[in-house]
Amino acid sequence: MSTDPKPWQRIDVPPEVARVPAMLTAEERRYLIWTTAVACQGGGAVVDLGPWLGGSSTALAEGLRRSGRPGKVHCRDLFSWSRSYMPGYCDVELPDGADFMPLFREQTAAYRDLIDVRQMDLTRAEWSGEPIELLFVDAAKSWELLNEILRVFAPCLEPGVSRVVLQDFRHAPTYFIPLVFDGRPDLWEEVEAVDHGTTVTFRLRRAFDPTVLPYDEASFPFAAARAIFAARIAAAAPAHRTVFELALLVKAVVEGERDVADELRAAVRRELPDRDAEEHLAAAEDCAAAALSRQVRATFDRDGPAAAEEMLARIERRIAEREWIAVLREQLRLHAARAGIEAAARELAAHRYAAANAEILAALGRLRPAEPLVRSALSLLEQVWTAEQDADRALGTLRELAPRFDGDADFHVLAAIVARHRGRTDEALEALVRALRLAPAHADALRLRAEWS
Ligand SMILES: C[S@@+](CC[C@H](N)C(=O)[O-])C[C@H]1O[C@@H](n2cnc3c(N)ncnc32)[C@H](O)[C@@H]1O
Repeated sequence: MSTDPKPWQRIDVPPEVARVPAMLTAEERRYLIWTTAVACQGGGAVVDLGPWLGGSSTALAEGLRRSGRPGKVHCRDLFSWSRSYMPGYCDVELPDGADFMPLFREQTAAYRDLIDVRQMDLTRAEWSGEPIELLFVDAAKSWELLNEILRVFAPCLEPGVSRVVLQDFRHAPTYFIPLVFDGRPDLWEEVEAVDHGTTVTFRLRRAFDPTVLPYDEASFPFAAARAIFAARIAAAAPAHRTVFELALLVKAVVEGERDVADELRAAVRRELPDRDAEEHLAAAEDCAAAALSRQVRATFDRDGPAAAEEMLARIERRIAEREWIAVLREQLRLHAARAGIEAAARELAAHRYAAANAEILAALGRLRPAEPLVRSALSLLEQVWTAEQDADRALGTLRELAPRFDGDADFHVLAAIVARHRGRTDEALEALVRALRLAPAHADALRLRAEWS
């Protein structure tokens, strides 16, 4: 048996792997080839969660090919382009939401026979139940995703054998990954970690019991989280220490632990050059704000508006930054409006028009003129009125909305449609003129004016 602690460092990476755009270091590609070719014994499937353009998939497939074992790399990804972080790693330009599975197929063509790819939202993951020996995870970007990945895939890992390769382990925005894996040393044993990169690999010690799920912020009270990260910080090479300090900073801000947060900010400023430190600290704060926002929205969905407001008030007492609370409140307002519109769509589909109308009015009550959601709400309103053929309700509702939505072009377009429906052509045209005054290029208003004039 080799005594070399990092035997993958001598693995060569062929051009079919190296040329694929990836968010991986060269050592991580070597590691993925090695772990599939050498470390795995063939006791189950190789799964790649979040392969993006195929950087991880080709490395894993190359390892599988070298091992001579049968089987494929099972790649699962949303394949929905995000301009917020993807273009930084390749020279591809696509709009947000574009399907990039064709690009994945193109980039991984050299390993076509070794790759089984499926487009999948891993918040609703599916797996055949086949045993898994290697689970590469680069898509656990939230508590929700990590919980779902563990729920669906971890029960198929074999204790004492299967590896979970966590590409986001040394990454502050995914601070919950070390909490979940280091927090259960009885269940997970660290087996490998790269020097250059963020990947750390664990082996399952005993059968995974999904009843421990879901994990959330409350599963790791601050004292427990601090102990977990303190151990990581003490053991880390200098190059990795700051990442764990930043990860603990996120948790400290989320929990309102201001003194610890200040100590960590000072440590990061000591360790990193000025500009880097400020950039990383700002990213950690954003990440904490996003985590809090998710918590508030989840509370709204689970326990209703009053509970969400109560949670905001608790956060406000804990956290000094006032502007944060304003941002969280805004996000909650839009979330509640969106939830109302979704509820209205369900009522409409069930032909409960009065209930749909009421939901839309409540959602509009949360919205301001010209916000993008107003258009969705008004379009639903039109569908409700068309379905129930109730001109009186339509008029009543329009009158109710008029004082608040006088500055919204979509509102005037809807008023025009209702007026026209009631045979009031002049009134309809006037409403279109008002809409076009507010939004001269409004496509529906222009179209209707051309049709009606
Ligand atoms: C950091 S990138 C992966 C990089 C890749 N492993 C590599 O080697 O270059 C994260 C990937 O996770 C995917 N992802 C994010 N959320 C997802 C979800 N809900 N379901 C499926 N995939 C998701 C993204 O589409 C993206 O491809």
